[in-house]
Amino acid sequence: MKMERLVEEILRLKGERNAIIMAHNYQLPEVQDIADFLGDSLELARKAVKTDADVIVFAGVDFMAETAKILNPGKTVLLPSRRATCAMANMLKVEHILEAKEQYPDAPVVLYVNTTAETKAYADVTVTSANAVKIVEKLDSDVVIFGPDKNLASYVARQTGKKVIPVPEYGHCYVHRKFTVEDVERARELYPNAKLMVHPECAPEVQERADIIVSTGGMIRRAPEHDEWVVFTEREMVYRLQTLHPEIKFHPAKDDATCIGMKAITLNHIYESLRDMKYAVEVPNEIAEKARKAIERMLELS
Ligand code: 13P
Ligand code: SF4
Repeated sequence: MKMERLVEEILRLKGERNAIIMAHNYQLPEVQDIADFLGDSLELARKAVKTDADVIVFAGVDFMAETAKILNPGKTVLLPSRRATCAMANMLKVEHILEAKEQYPDAPVVLYVNTTAETKAYADVTVTSANAVKIVEKLDSDVVIFGPDKNLASYVARQTGKKVIPVPEYGHCYVHRKFTVEDVERARELYPNAKLMVHPECAPEVQERADIIVSTGGMIRRAPEHDEWVVFTEREMVYRLQTLHPEIKFHPAKDDATCIGMKAITLNHIYESLRDMKYAVEVPNEIAEKARKAIERMLELS
């Protein structure tokens, strides 16, 4: 089907189903263009509790769609592709949390939303890159167990001065791991007037050399502070920033920083998803109830 026809069909089906399309900032440009709501992980979770649509089509990765389902057990949440998954979220297993709990029984378990629902059921609170520092600061403990991103964990440790135990020790995002100190040096040389915006999933040595360290939502909010930026995160973020701020210059720090899970969703998948009501996200009740408490605590604290 041609692109224009596909968009028409999506809009028609969306009306028929009383559906909303929610999309993450890393989605393909054509997917961003048809979304009803675009945001970072925190904004998407917040929006998910507010919608009165019957169906949420989630253009993002599986943990984001699961979060929307956990917060809306009565609604249908569709993930348009089974390949839309987050490699980092899949690194954390329940055993890692239990092992850390044995060593630090009094430490609260703080989990990044980039986790499976099963592991979230063991969390005291979830966080996103936008609120992790604020939430860990508020917790009444100087030691926290934190997973799965070791780079976000070290950022939180530096910002809060607390002892942050990373679980697993090697948790990372393969997209953000691509950025190196050489990329920072090249960016400074190529664009001497630009500032560097860096996602906290990047390595500490890259973070140290950044002008600002922010979530994708933070990148959007803080972009007007300067007129030229180099962007250290998934490459589609530049499209999102440029659409919102055409007067500002944005350069990707790397052209090949691509999240395969995010790119698994195309317009055709969204069309088929609405047409066939697939793939419905299901989270077993006992897991959903526990995970919901941790997500709701995050929403209260942030
Ligand atoms: P944000 O919450 O900053 O959008 O990050 C989500 C993510 O998966 C980054 O890789
Ligand atoms: Fe997961 Fe990294 Fe993709 Fe974000 S960019 S969804 S952390 S794999």
